[in-house]
Amino acid sequence: MITLIKGGTVVSSTGRTTADVLVDGEKIVALISPGASPFGSIDADVTIDATGKYVIPGGVDAHTHMQLPFGGTNASDTFETGTRAAAWGGTTTIIDFAVQRYGERVQDGLAHWHELAAGNCAIDYAFHQIIGGVDDDALKAMDTLVDEGITSYKLFMAYPGVFYSDDAQVLRAMQKATDHGLLTMMHAENGPAIDVLAAQLAESGKTSPYYHGIARAWQMEEEATHRAIMLADVTGAPLYVVHVSAKQAVEQLAAARDRGKNVYGETCPQYLYLSLEDQLGARSEEWGDFEGAKWVCSTPLRSREEGHQDAMWQALRTNDLQMVSTDHCPFCMKEQKELGKDDFRAIPNGIGSIEHRVDLLYQGVVTGQITLERWVELIATTPARMFGLYGRKGVIAPGADADIVVYDPNGHTSIGVGKTHHMNMDHSAWEGYEIDGHVDVVLSRGSVVVAEGEFKGTTGHGSYLKRDLSQYLV
Ligand code: URP
Ligand code: ZN
Ligand code: ZN
Repeated sequence: MITLIKGGTVVSSTGRTTADVLVDGEKIVALISPGASPFGSIDADVTIDATGKYVIPGGVDAHTHMQLPFGGTNASDTFETGTRAAAWGGTTTIIDFAVQRYGERVQDGLAHWHELAAGNCAIDYAFHQIIGGVDDDALKAMDTLVDEGITSYKLFMAYPGVFYSDDAQVLRAMQKATDHGLLTMMHAENGPAIDVLAAQLAESGKTSPYYHGIARAWQMEEEATHRAIMLADVTGAPLYVVHVSAKQAVEQLAAARDRGKNVYGETCPQYLYLSLEDQLGARSEEWGDFEGAKWVCSTPLRSREEGHQDAMWQALRTNDLQMVSTDHCPFCMKEQKELGKDDFRAIPNGIGSIEHRVDLLYQGVVTGQITLERWVELIATTPARMFGLYGRKGVIAPGADADIVVYDPNGHTSIGVGKTHHMNMDHSAWEGYEIDGHVDVVLSRGSVVVAEGEFKGTTGHGSYLKRDLSQYLV
């Protein structure tokens, strides 16, 4: 089957050009300058008119949590609902986190994640491995991760009693990672100290969602980020810090990079747009000040007065942060977030954004925060390179998978329940956001999965991707 995407502006991380994109089956086979086809006139089975639109590589969201067990419940998107929502929003690859919880075998956790995902995804998917209990058995299991196509794993310096690793465990895991070229992804918050602060707040009657962010002070993120960098340095492990929200944590990353360390960081749309003040001010008839639970996530939303959001945008421009993932971890208000109605500590942590990352970042182009090329780099190209998918994903070039988005800069997207909302959630963390742009057409390996305002994909189309080592290893 031959597909021709005609007349658009093809945008890459390094520039833009007017070209037709020729797709044969699942692969991109050529970029053709208008009127310069070496093939004569092309008799395509499907022609997509992209005149006046951007043609970009499908988004790669490198941080999602479908069905994550957390706080006595599970993230509300399944691989089926979550990947369909991703496709709606122009994301064609996700990297989800297979979970090993304390006391479980890594292999069992990974096998379970394959069972959850296989046959259920609308787009391609890969896994990182959460190591939630570093012991001899887990360290041994890390020896085989690369063979499984898993070249990165996540540790938590937060959530004592759940996924937490102490410094000795972090050190041992990093040593193992160094042996195999695994990229260490770190949740960098000082969990034990946060738990003391959270208990003190709750005991003094400060139980509303806002206090989640007060307990998880930026000092807790800065300190843990620094410690992670030092532990990585002493072990020689490359480090990738997830969901960075504090400007002081960025300063730690930037300082380490300036010293030549192999250290990277991502931020997420919530840390670019939302703030602790918004959360404090959120009230609804239904939920009162518990409305703020919609934005309980870790790391938490930060104070706008302190300038964290501006610092995240700046770091994306200066490459002190290299990419934007969602940390998609949705929970409904009913029966899930409301578990913490009387105590913020029991609110399941997470926000759902998988459908909106490409649009929300494009809004940064509209407002002049980032260039068009940097947009593509942040949402697709760097995630693919960072996590060993580049060449297949993250680029429009001959030989790459035909994961392509036709994006209309003159279109418009109204985000919210009843508008654009396909995630399995009873609310949107992004209700009321208006985007000057629109995901028009989405192709996943050559198949049209979204077009004409309709989902045209199929559950089970998505394949498991074995990943190569990160291109950022030195
Ligand atoms: O609040 C968050 N981030 N929930 C998902 C788990 C994690 O720490 O990434
Ligand atoms: Zn985390
Ligand atoms: Zn996460």
